[in-house]
Amino acid sequence: MIKDTFAGLRAEIERFEHQIPSGSEAEALAAFERLVEALRRGEARAAERDEHGVWRANGWVKSGILLGFKLGRVQSVHESSSFPFFDKHTLPLRPAILEDGVRIVPGGSAIRDGAFIAPGVVCMPPMYINIGAFVDEGTMVDSHALIGSCAQIGKRVHLSAAAQIGGVLEPVGALPVIIEDGVLVGGNCGVYEGTVVRANAVLGAGVILTGSTQVFDLVYDRVYRRDGDSPLEIPTGAVVVPGSRPVQTEPGRSAGIHLSTPVIVKYRDEKTETSARLEDLLRR
Ligand SMILES: CC(C)(COP(=O)(O)OP(=O)(O)OC[C@H]1O[C@@H](n2cnc3c(N)ncnc32)[C@H](O)[C@@H]1OP(=O)(O)O)[C@@H](O)C(=O)NCCC(=O)NCCS
Repeated sequence: MIKDTFAGLRAEIERFEHQIPSGSEAEALAAFERLVEALRRGEARAAERDEHGVWRANGWVKSGILLGFKLGRVQSVHESSSFPFFDKHTLPLRPAILEDGVRIVPGGSAIRDGAFIAPGVVCMPPMYINIGAFVDEGTMVDSHALIGSCAQIGKRVHLSAAAQIGGVLEPVGALPVIIEDGVLVGGNCGVYEGTVVRANAVLGAGVILTGSTQVFDLVYDRVYRRDGDSPLEIPTGAVVVPGSRPVQTEPGRSAGIHLSTPVIVKYRDEKTETSARLEDLLRR
């Protein structure tokens, strides 16, 4: 069981989930602001792992984030710039100070408030981190990478250039994308729709994982896929590369059509460590 340390805030947010009664806007906004603060500190999470390793979405957190979208009115941001931005007033950029211990290289990057970024994270421009995301210690977010809303990224994860971690806000009960500790997400990968990538797995460049993707495990001769409420899970230490499988039905079979299918070619070994060695110097 996951301890519910936010029972009061949760009840308040659930009260406004379907409707904000006229005259209660200020109360709803205050609840949203408390949630954003808890998310920014990494205390509240959009999804949590229980003692059995099962990740569960915190629907109330996602409802709370949606509350901010409902309450927000579009306003001008950074008016002094010759290229202004316009966004909901409830969704400002995350305040950042040197003492956060996060290295943010200038140039086209943004982090929305309500995201937790642990010390030691490196953000290479341009990149974007959305509300509700949790990014743990020592993770590298390389250029053109996206960490979508509510995604949970573990410690010492390497999100390579142009890796796209999709956001999952709705439905509120849906699990966001989970990338556990030590995972290497190769360049141009896409991980979407609540996929769980277990610790130390390696996604080779260009692997795309969605809720409909079948992943073939050549080592254990089995297929991983989403099953009802259970998300697609990439096992611990799996090395996944892009692949294809022939269509078995007509007219695709006769036409020689293949569908793209990621393949687990092996489990992490010394050779993988050499291929995937993280540049520790880049992270200091
Ligand atoms: C997955 C990866 C780490 C290689 O891991 P590895 O453990 O060294 O893999 P190996 O070289 O032992 O390959 C095992 C098998 O998978 C195949 N394979 C490896 N990587 C592959 C890839 N990306 N696409 C297709 N097949 C691949 C190999 O050809 C080999 O097949 P074989 O046994 O039939 O010869 C590497 O291919 C990769 O994608 N790295 C990420 C690079 C990247 O995105 N960098 C970003 C920097 S910003």
